[in-house]
Amino acid sequence: MGQLAPSILSADFADLGNQAEAVSRAGASLLHIDVMDGHFVPNISFGAAVMKSLNKRDTVPYDVHLMIEDPDKYIADFITEKTSFVTVHQEACRHLHRTVQLIRSLGVHAGVALNPATPLSTLQYMWDDLDMVLVMSVNPGFGGQKFIPSALDKIRQLAQIREERGAKFLIEVDGGATLSNAKELTEAGVDILVAGSAVFGAEDIAQRTKDFVSLIG
Ligand code: DX5
Ligand code: ZN
Repeated sequence: MGQLAPSILSADFADLGNQAEAVSRAGASLLHIDVMDGHFVPNISFGAAVMKSLNKRDTVPYDVHLMIEDPDKYIADFITEKTSFVTVHQEACRHLHRTVQLIRSLGVHAGVALNPATPLSTLQYMWDDLDMVLVMSVNPGFGGQKFIPSALDKIRQLAQIREERGAKFLIEVDGGATLSNAKELTEAGVDILVAGSAVFGAEDIAQRTKDFVSLIG
């Protein structure tokens, strides 16, 4: 059983409100909000103001993915009544445990993302403190990239660690998800599947959302 989190990075920003409502109505569970600073990743996307402009619209809750340096400075900006998860990158946090506590203290769920080259063992002492682990299946920075196959093995190992330890965190995958690999990913242990270009690149984004949901739900 997986849930779909369409990434608005691939939406038409001139029609963002309507597209966010359309995928929400069609069965998405979360809206994935990709924030890029041009430092941690080689691209700039948008900031909290764009996310907050969606607060007035009828959408599912936000799953905020901060691809930024020094996230502690900005986390509070992304907390709204619709924020459900805030995820930071392991590679961007000098004091990861402190950052995770900060996120939780603001009343939302805390996630940590791992780049493709970052081992699971970097979270060895964090398993019981996390609400979600985000496995990056592309190098972060851009939508529309190809799925890196080793991520599948990483997800399986992560699901095994979770089971062995009786930990409660959710597993999310982000990057290169398509209708062709979605089922395999959820079978490997993914709870939340992020899909950007595969949803918003479709001619009928509502129908594509439904197709994903019926495949993984
Ligand atoms: C990559 C972002 C992803 C991206 C996914 O840096 O974190 O969320 O938008 O896009 P697709 O699904 O097109 O790979
Ligand atoms: Zn993302």
